[in-house]
Amino acid sequence: MFVKERRGRRGFLMGPRCPQTNATFACKKCEKVYTIDDGSGGSHGINGSEPHFQNPKQIKEYLDQHVIGQEYGKKVLSTAVFNHYCRMQMNKNRGENAAKNDKVCLEKSNVLLLGPSGSGKTLIAKTLAEMLQVPFSMNDATTLTQAGYVGEDVESLIFRLLQAEHGIIFLDEVDKIRKRPSAIRDSRDVGGEGVQQSLLKMLEGTVVTVQDKSKRNGRAEEYQIDTSNILFVLSGAFVGLDKVISQRITSTSIGFAAAKKETVNEKVSEQTHYDFIMSKLETDDLINYGLIPEFVGRIPVVAVLQELRENDLVHALTEPKNSVVKQIKALFKHNGIELVFEKDALVEIARLAIKKKVGARGLRGIVDHILQESMYAAPNSDISRIIVDVPAVKGERPPRYVHSKTKTKSDGHLDLQDEPGITTHPISALSTTLAVAPAPARP
Ligand SMILES: Nc1ncnc2c1ncn2[C@@H]1O[C@H](COP(=O)(O)OP(=O)(O)OP(=O)(O)O)[C@@H](O)[C@H]1O
Ligand SMILES: [Mg+2]
Repeated sequence: MFVKERRGRRGFLMGPRCPQTNATFACKKCEKVYTIDDGSGGSHGINGSEPHFQNPKQIKEYLDQHVIGQEYGKKVLSTAVFNHYCRMQMNKNRGENAAKNDKVCLEKSNVLLLGPSGSGKTLIAKTLAEMLQVPFSMNDATTLTQAGYVGEDVESLIFRLLQAEHGIIFLDEVDKIRKRPSAIRDSRDVGGEGVQQSLLKMLEGTVVTVQDKSKRNGRAEEYQIDTSNILFVLSGAFVGLDKVISQRITSTSIGFAAAKKETVNEKVSEQTHYDFIMSKLETDDLINYGLIPEFVGRIPVVAVLQELRENDLVHALTEPKNSVVKQIKALFKHNGIELVFEKDALVEIARLAIKKKVGARGLRGIVDHILQESMYAAPNSDISRIIVDVPAVKGERPPRYVHSKTKTKSDGHLDLQDEPGITTHPISALSTTLAVAPAPARP
């Protein structure tokens, strides 16, 4: 495999296109544009391999290893990504046989992912980015300003994805570019409506000329990118959108009566109030929230993530490959200490996270807080086992410690009741240093 560099007619660098992906790519170091030629006549993907999944289910199965719950959201995203691959493949075939046939050219379906804070929106995107073999660029809408103003403009998103015109751009915190109510009378809404306007062209698909603004000296180089094959996944918490929906529902007497009736049924279906209201989401609600109609019109797929419930949070604590509990256990194990969470304690941690209304995002903070003193005192001491139980989670007293002198054989099971031989002591009875440590106060 070798890399070719070529200078285009108008002075900007252009590599010959990959026959399969129709892509060029930019070197991060020298920032020139190249193309990979492996001499195989062009049967390679952008990074030299074919997609390693045959259907959306396989993508979802990968997501399942990292993201708890959110069945609907994971299905929608897996399908969107899989269709993106199919579209690339079909449009490429169509391009190759353009003279012979008039097959349908598939257009992309951008996706909007909504859901409460800490429900897994960014996590889903990060997990997809890890697994996908198409270039995936993660961006934050809060940094964007309208072209010509101080800040990052929309074209810089495209520049970052220069490697491939068939990649995926994930734009997070997109609710932050809503039209600001204060800006309704002022046309210069550079961080809100202005950015939405700038995004319209990209979302739909067009050939844009982007400039490499990273170069301070000399003339900025220009690149032409076709965005029609870039899939956009937009995401945001849209705080307050549920109130916009409620207002719409209750503003009509028929709607109000229907909503009331469904609220009664809601108890049967175990939906939270938030999930119930969000299930009534309509395009107009997004517009009333501050997205401009043309922007909403370019995002045909909307998936709403749910509030994680107690059971989901317990699973989120323990099951994902890189779960909070697995991480903290590994940290203690590194110091020769076995860390044990009693089952009820995990449930209590989940309840605390729900109280704080921060979703799964709060779990790490709660666990860190419970074990703060232990992380400080236990390494390189005679403590061999630490047991987190309900009183420890509630902050009524510190976790229980087992010292190596008193430790009997342990089979490593989580449930203490399985191991009646273990002698456990409150921390204060065992260590002078730790005896004075107060139980951590709940923040
Ligand atoms: N469904 C989930 N399954 C497992 N862990 C989760 C889930 N949702 C969130 N988490 C945990 O919470 C952390 C924060 O989640 P994430 O960043 O995805 O939230 P978000 O939905 O993007 O929220 P925000 O709107 O505040 O950005 C993740 O890193 C992960 O540890
Ligand atoms: Mg997020």
